[in-house]
Amino acid sequence: MATDDPLQKTSPEPLAPTATDSAPLVRFDQVVKRYGAHVVLDHLDFAVERGQHVTLIGPSGSGKTTILRLLMTLERVSGGTIYVDGQPLSHMPGPDGSLKPASEKHQREIRKRIGMVFQQFNLFPNMNVLQNITEAPVNVLGLERAEAEERARDLLRLVGLEEKITAHPTQLSGGQQQRVAIARALAMRPDILLLDEVTSALDPELVAGVLDVLRDIAHSTDITLLCVTHEMNFARDISDRVMMFDSGKVIESGPPEKIFGEPEHERTRAFLSAVL
Ligand SMILES: Nc1ncnc2c1ncn2[C@@H]1O[C@H](COP(=O)(O)OP(=O)(O)O)[C@@H](O)[C@H]1O
Ligand SMILES: [Mg+2]
Repeated sequence: MATDDPLQKTSPEPLAPTATDSAPLVRFDQVVKRYGAHVVLDHLDFAVERGQHVTLIGPSGSGKTTILRLLMTLERVSGGTIYVDGQPLSHMPGPDGSLKPASEKHQREIRKRIGMVFQQFNLFPNMNVLQNITEAPVNVLGLERAEAEERARDLLRLVGLEEKITAHPTQLSGGQQQRVAIARALAMRPDILLLDEVTSALDPELVAGVLDVLRDIAHSTDITLLCVTHEMNFARDISDRVMMFDSGKVIESGPPEKIFGEPEHERTRAFLSAVL
């Protein structure tokens, strides 16, 4: 079926027979992450429902990036379990039903469903815009090149960069590169998009354009978002829920009106007065 929606799934197959519609899309269950003796995440529990937009706020060094990197399987948990759509990410069910460390293949399959945009855009420098966006859909998803290119054009329209399709990263501003990075992540049609301070490395005058694109995506698609940002107005606009994070734990969580308007915890108040 032809569709105009660049995010429309072509094959919404469940990951495995045990995955259920009722499971949250992401669930952290007593997740611990340590670097040596340094405990970064301390028995962390939270869930993100399908289609929800959740923003993580909190001081620098509090472990926000670590949460996203664990979800991308760029890091392994020290304890506890992360579930994606009901499936354990770092472990897999063994024949006897107990959880065994996950195989590379299991992790790869789950990772296909997750897209991430980083503070540093990390475009492939030797490829033009079109190649940056089509590379993974062709080589990882096995899409026909023509279909991948059509998808890329739709996404470039979405991020307002149709005319840059043959440009190389060095010919683009930071804001344009970041919009290509967003299109590149969306080209995989992820179920969940992770955004890690995607405007923090940009010149101030380029921030608004990138945030506008993200607002548009948040409001016009059903993608699930887990977002780390210091842009509090943006967080207020797009979030269903804001989680205030500090010292390895979620210390307060609620709708943006509540967290920004009537925060309960002194640490949240102190953090907000420092950044607002
Ligand atoms: N690879 C690593 N090795 C050792 N310590 C790390 C590593 N990555 C992150 N950390 C530490 O973990 C803590 C949380 O980092 P991070 O998740 O990047 O925080 P945030 O994104 O909230 O600023 C920091 O104290 C950081 O120094
Ligand atoms: Mg960070």
